[in-house]
Amino acid sequence: MKKVVLAFSGGLDTSVCIKLLEENYDMEVITACVDVGQPEEEIERPAAAADKIGSSKHYTIDAKEEFVEDFIFRAIKANAIYEGYPLSTALARPLIAMKIVELAKKEGANAIAHGCTGKGNDQFRFEAIIRAMSDIDVIAPIRDLNLTRSEEIEYAEGHGIPLPSDKQYSIDENIWGRSIEGDILEDPMVETPEEAFEWTRSTDDAPDESQILEIKFEKGVPVALNNEKRDPLDLIGKCNEIAGKHGIGRIDIIEDRIIGLKSRENYEVPGAILLITAHKALEQLNLTRSELKFAAHVSEVYSELIYDGLWHDPLREDMDALIDKMQRRVTGTVKVRLHKGNLRILGRESHYSLYNEEIVSFEDKGMDQREIAGMVKNYGIQAASYNKICKKD
Ligand code: ARG
Repeated sequence: MKKVVLAFSGGLDTSVCIKLLEENYDMEVITACVDVGQPEEEIERPAAAADKIGSSKHYTIDAKEEFVEDFIFRAIKANAIYEGYPLSTALARPLIAMKIVELAKKEGANAIAHGCTGKGNDQFRFEAIIRAMSDIDVIAPIRDLNLTRSEEIEYAEGHGIPLPSDKQYSIDENIWGRSIEGDILEDPMVETPEEAFEWTRSTDDAPDESQILEIKFEKGVPVALNNEKRDPLDLIGKCNEIAGKHGIGRIDIIEDRIIGLKSRENYEVPGAILLITAHKALEQLNLTRSELKFAAHVSEVYSELIYDGLWHDPLREDMDALIDKMQRRVTGTVKVRLHKGNLRILGRESHYSLYNEEIVSFEDKGMDQREIAGMVKNYGIQAASYNKICKKD
């Protein structure tokens, strides 16, 4: 019997895949759940479910630390946001695919399977990495059989496949964020109901009392909160908790998928919004105008590359080299206030600050204002010529 390793989350798609791979493809199924910081029950439940549905062997692969240090930290340094989305799902996919390929090689599997549909982004992200790392065949049962969500539910019920009972929406969760899709949310005019959210409080329910937080960055990555050093995983978790409590990080957008479809997406990304906002504030202090301008452009290209699942494109590494060089000076502290969905920068300080209080001050006499007069006089010379030549009448 041929062996297949299935990237298994325990959700509807991948649960149905176990049975389909056995029945329709006649394969022995090995399941693997890659832990990128989803809640504990999303690790435990798949392990129990896999066995029940018919997986011959189940693996849980802990990739949390790698996810934070090699992916999330890069995303913070790059201020990676695609169309308003801090790329939580998109960032985790390459790592999950890498872990699945490693396992498939170890198991001597004939194929790798995933539960993606033919409409989403994840099929691109998974398969691009799998093909870059191996020659193993890829099987996508849901896409192959053109199944709809209700057909999947029917199949699951008919085959005694246990499903999480409370899952009305399609949820994807990792330590960088939680995404909520489907069901009534497919109508872009329908307001997302309060019960869809788990990481963030509504602004109504957020505490009346504001909270002040100091975030210390070293070389572009967060290392301490309120002067308390924290390991990377713990720090991201704490930021999610604090910002979520204050109602920060709810995002409701229309997003452009890789295949061109527009989709309505809800995200809870409190820590990502908090950290990227603070990170940008520190960059404003320490980077030159030309660096900031160029970094913003790089950020856009970087974010799109991640969204498009091209993590392994050499351009990403090229950009990381540039970003790492710039980020060597992004060390310092940012003070923020969180209050009822609001995030306000209160202050920033750094040894590498390019801000010169003495010169910019209204009280300063060291820089003679009169010396600037000539510069001002010739400023906008091209626009002035245009106006004189073309706007005579
Ligand atoms: N639209 C996002 C992306 O493509 C998130 C998709 C997450 N999937 C889900 N079932 N909620 O990266």
